[in-house]
This record gives sequence, structure tokens and C-alpha cells, in this order.
Amino acid sequence: MSRLANSSYLKKWNVYATRRILEPAISTIAKECNVVLNNKVRPPTRSEILAGVHNKDAILCTVSDKIDRKVLDSAGSSLKVISSYSTGIDHIDIEEASKRGIHVTTTGSILTEAVADLTFALILAISRHIVHGHKMVTRKRWKFGWDPNLLLGSDVHGTTIGILGLGRIGSAVARRAKGFDMNIIYHSRHGKNIQIDNELGSKYVSMDELLEKSDFLSLHSPLNSETHHLINKSKLKRMKNNAYLINTARGSLVNELHLIEALNKQWIAGAALDVFEKEPPLPNNSLLKMKNVLLMPHLGSATISTRTKMAEIAAENLLNVLNGKTPIYAANL
Ligand code: DGY
Repeated sequence: MSRLANSSYLKKWNVYATRRILEPAISTIAKECNVVLNNKVRPPTRSEILAGVHNKDAILCTVSDKIDRKVLDSAGSSLKVISSYSTGIDHIDIEEASKRGIHVTTTGSILTEAVADLTFALILAISRHIVHGHKMVTRKRWKFGWDPNLLLGSDVHGTTIGILGLGRIGSAVARRAKGFDMNIIYHSRHGKNIQIDNELGSKYVSMDELLEKSDFLSLHSPLNSETHHLINKSKLKRMKNNAYLINTARGSLVNELHLIEALNKQWIAGAALDVFEKEPPLPNNSLLKMKNVLLMPHLGSATISTRTKMAEIAAENLLNVLNGKTPIYAANL
């Protein structure tokens, strides 16, 4: 842990930052606050978080840090704001924070386009065996030049993409799908989106129709008690045998054990996952050994420009709340 405060007597706020996010975020905060920073390459352990937040005015956290009632208790009554370096907030007990009058802030829509780009990268990579092809060439297993039967994939253009959750990221994925000449169907808790339908020719369908018609089912719902394990055995069974499941949202939207069964029994053709129920997946997770999967280490927002903007916003949100101003992206209060 490092302490970024030389002249602490001049500064009124105490901040605990769970990770070194892209600069100048931490140094901007450190101009006004005493910052205790977890400077390690790994997230803080549970006990490090509980100790780190003690008597702090603000917490700067990431999706890896569970901020629950116990953490709030440990922080105590001084805590005013939890600034999450993320758009998703399922790692934070927002209800409890709100009850205690603690502001929770996010990085809002900043990562929308980057996540939509990665979603499309996964769609293309899994359907056209991009990773297998790369490994074949670099591992010198490409023996005979052009081959009429080598790594035959499936089309993306002209197929149907099913989008579950037509919020900002789902809509950005739909725009990319239009460019690929795909038929766009979606299901969303907000129902039909006439504006997007007019713009892209998309169609709102029931959950069952979404499952039954999609060649690529892409998940973009937030994780909460209603969406936890939303994609389970019965839903996977309804999907087409040639369909791919794409998940760049949250791992726990999918019951991973059911997905493994679906992949083993070939109820679906494959899955491209940027997120998992447990991150990183445990070494004995069967997904790690499967051929019909493409697995990424939660990289949806991981571009220099997006992560830099996220860092700026996380810092601004935190300082705004401490200074009595409105945060840029508030998740409560
Ligand atoms: C988020 O912000 O919610 C992403 O999952 C990580 O950037």
C-alpha cells in the first residue's frame, strides 16, 4: 500500500484507491486528498479492503472489489462516495449505500463503443476460427498451403443476431450488426425501441423467439437479482444447434455449469466469453479445455482511450461529490 500525501495537514479528505488506474486520475485526486493506494498488480484481498477503507471519505474501486455492508461498516460514517471505475455496479451494495446516504458513481456510457467493438471482434473471431488459424500458422501446423476444407467457419453477414438488452451497448452492437448486413432481433425489459427499429430495421421479439431465431445471441443486460443465471439449461436448449452465445456483459447472467453442458452436448455451436462467474475462472473450470469456446480476460473496455476517459471520470466523480458538486454519472441519490 502506498500513501500519496506529503502535506496531509492541508488536505481534508481521505481516499482509499483499490487499484492504480490510468493517470492523471490518482494524482488529480491526490492534489486534494490523502490517498492510500493499493499499488500491487493484483486487487486487494478482502482483509486489505476492510482495513483500507477504514475512516475514509471516499473509495475508488473497480469491478473486482466487492463493496458490501461489511465494507461500508468498516469505512464508518465518514464515507461519502464510492467512485467505481466501471459502468456495471453489481459489485456494490447500492441499496445499503443509498440507505446510508453514500453516493455511488460510475463511468456511465464512456465504454459503450469499446465494448460493442469487442463484442463484434468475438462474433467474428469465433465464427471464422481466427484464434485457431493464428495458432495453426504460428505453431507451424499449417502444412499444405491453401486447403479447400481448412477451418471452415460460419457466415456472419446475412445471419440473425439476437440482442438481449437493448441499452446503450446493445444498441451500439445493433449498429455494427447493421453494417454487417445482419437481421437484428432483440429482447429488452424496456420493450420495443421504435427509434432503433426505425434506424436499423430491428425487431423486438419475445425471449423464446430470441433464443430460437438467433445465430448469435449477444448478452447486454445488467446483472441483478432478476438477471442472475438468466441463461440456463432450458434457455440454452431452445437455441439453435449452430448458434453462438456471446457474453461481454457479466458472467453470472449465464449459469456456467449449464453452458458447459450445452457446449458438451452441442445444443449450441460455441460460446465467446469476455466475462465469467468467477474471474479468473478456477483452473478446473471445464470451459478452459473446450474447443468450441473463445475466452477473454474481461477486456471489453480495455482500450487506452476508453480506460483513460474512465479514469478521468472516476476521479472527477469522486472529487465532485466530496466538494458538494454533482457527479458526472450518479448511480444513486
Ligand atoms: C464495467 O465497467 O462494468 C466493465 O465490466 C469493466 O470496465
